[in-house]
Amino acid sequence: RPAHDDRSSRPAISVIAHRGASEDAPEHTLAAYRKAIEDGADALECDVRLTADGHLVCVHDRRVNRTSNGRGAVSALELADLASLDFGSWKDGAYGPDTLDPNEAPDRQLEDPERTSVLTLERLLELVADADRRVELAIETKHPTRWAGQVEERLVELLERFGHTKPARAEEWIPSVRVMSFSARSLHRVRAAAPEIPGVYLMQFLTPRHRDGRLPPGVQIAGPGIRILRAHPEYVAKAHRAGHQVHVWTVNEASDVELCRELGVDAVITNRPKQVRNQLGLA
Ligand code: G3P
Ligand code: CA
Repeated sequence: RPAHDDRSSRPAISVIAHRGASEDAPEHTLAAYRKAIEDGADALECDVRLTADGHLVCVHDRRVNRTSNGRGAVSALELADLASLDFGSWKDGAYGPDTLDPNEAPDRQLEDPERTSVLTLERLLELVADADRRVELAIETKHPTRWAGQVEERLVELLERFGHTKPARAEEWIPSVRVMSFSARSLHRVRAAAPEIPGVYLMQFLTPRHRDGRLPPGVQIAGPGIRILRAHPEYVAKAHRAGHQVHVWTVNEASDVELCRELGVDAVITNRPKQVRNQLGLA
């Protein structure tokens, strides 16, 4: 990262849409990602999990209970099971703890499948490939999972197929995908298969081991939660001095956006890309 003291000469902060434009549309749906692209997001964040029959799907929780009208662990369900569920109506209050009667939910599946269907990573990669501008991806591998190892294998396979890994003869090549994880082991597996894909080490707390800005071996980018920056604003400068970019999650409040701007972070991951871009003067 170039060292700039003068704020006006800093490179612009990247705005990454967390689970898509997930404030406006149900998280991890095609509708949320389309909206994020429309809103000018530089990159799309998504969590990936492997189904029982080997498909990578964009789902945050271990179980589908919170974000669909189904029950059970993603890793124990097949893609066809997930495809029969409604992953969108919960956002409109149709499902969830307060409204447990699915019969009272509107039939959103018929209204707009892009807002209610489970999204495969493959379909998300197609969306990005079809976009009329460069849109990057920040893909998070969720752990622990019963499919550890296979998640990373399948992920690299897909990234290769969609041209996100470095072509053999390319000299100048700018990565279009980053892989993020709270698991250093998962990042290590991805690096072993595709060393050119940058890894983002996600941190919920700042442990003594990482307080000086260092990251696990081979990891390029620090991914602290915003709470870390509120408590330890000096962390950003330390990570930069150690040669790492800093990508911060999940930055939704205006005061946190301002903090990130002041500290000179490299990217913010947010549920509201449009508002954050406006605040940063990027829109
Ligand atoms: O972008 C990183 C952030 O998404 C990590 O937390 O729980 O939202 O996946 P979580
Ligand atoms: Ca995530």
